[in-house]
Amino acid sequence: MKHLFQKGTNPAKPTLLMLHGTGGNETDLLAIASHIDPEASVLSVRGNVSENGMPRFFKRLSEGVFDMEDLKMRTGELYEYIGQAAKEYNFDRNNVIAIGYSNGANIAANLLFTYSDSLKGAILHHPMVPNRDADLPDLTNIPVFIAAGTNDPICPAEESTDLEKLLTGAGAKVQLHWEDFGHQLTMPEVEAAKEWYDKL
Ligand code: MLT
Repeated sequence: MKHLFQKGTNPAKPTLLMLHGTGGNETDLLAIASHIDPEASVLSVRGNVSENGMPRFFKRLSEGVFDMEDLKMRTGELYEYIGQAAKEYNFDRNNVIAIGYSNGANIAANLLFTYSDSLKGAILHHPMVPNRDADLPDLTNIPVFIAAGTNDPICPAEESTDLEKLLTGAGAKVQLHWEDFGHQLTMPEVEAAKEWYDKL
């Protein structure tokens, strides 16, 4: 997968897996990565799907309606890729925290929905429930921060509250944070994510 890797200064820190939103790329979230943890290694990946030239992590049939076959396949592809990258760049595969926005948050959520060992934790900015038919794996004590907007036209409030319930039901430790904004990724929610991350 197209990506950027930046080696951190402190090998004990997690590797931050950065996953952009629709139409973004692997450079979009680098400033957020260094704000959340300036000492951590960063693996920032570009989605392999192109929707009229806009990179995404999996295909969709329409706004908010996912191509479930493709989602499954791409989630597997990303899972495999993290393992390969860990070998190539010599980071700890078991210490990866995903930070995703929108489409990137959705594939991060689907990694959690599919594998018990994909992520050590996740920060999900404006995610949806990736798959309502999933049988979730054991996610005991995996910390997840969800940032949502009360006026988000793409993610209605139930997407966030249902995701919180499903992850909590699988054992994850979820914090759901609301901002009175729409779908945009805001500085206050990044600050809230940093506060959460600093307490891990
Ligand atoms: C998705 O397709 O993953 C969601 O609708 C969010 C987005 O617009 O990318």
